[in-house]
Amino acid sequence: MSKKQEMKNVADLVKNCKKCDLWKTRTKPVIGEGSEDANIIFIGEAPGYNEDRQGLPFVGKAGGILDQSLDSIGLQRQDVYIANILKCRPPKNRNPLKSEVDICTGYLNKQIELIQPEVIIPLGNFATSYIFEKFGLKYDKISNVHGRIFQVSTIFGNIKIIPMYHPAVATYNPNTKDILIEDFKSIQTTLEKRCLF
Ligand code: URA
Ligand code: SF4
Repeated sequence: MSKKQEMKNVADLVKNCKKCDLWKTRTKPVIGEGSEDANIIFIGEAPGYNEDRQGLPFVGKAGGILDQSLDSIGLQRQDVYIANILKCRPPKNRNPLKSEVDICTGYLNKQIELIQPEVIIPLGNFATSYIFEKFGLKYDKISNVHGRIFQVSTIFGNIKIIPMYHPAVATYNPNTKDILIEDFKSIQTTLEKRCLF
């Protein structure tokens, strides 16, 4: 089966998913966007208001910052894959519950296995804490790890994990936005070193 077909199967499962209560209040689930052949996956927390209406990740203000950050290193959305820890929006954008993360990340894990990225960029505290735990890294807090390159070995080879601040924080904190743009340079360096461009 092609990667595209397998990703479509994941999408069909998510569209019909009722494994946690979030299906009751969501408008559209947000499966992910981008290329199945991408070398990089960005992982956010969960859909917000705009994402829930459109069924696409990072389409609101935070999405604008993500686009600017990508653009600063010469990348566009179609060059990468963008997904979230939770596929459905928590009411009033409350934090994901541990039970929801435990149930929903089966889909994200399948997406990661399919894409087999060389680089994973968790955005913000929730995504970083999940990805660090998944790959056996010790997580303290985002301010201690942002922009740093962590190498781990997986069933599909060595990958790099580079945590970043969540772009939503950068929408109201210009200092965080500067840090985010600076941290994106770590992605560029990593890609150039491995000749992935
Ligand atoms: N915040 C996220 O974490 N993900 C989105 O898709 C949008 C906002
Ligand atoms: Fe299913 Fe995930 Fe949506 Fe919960 S958040 S209903 S587990 S797709």
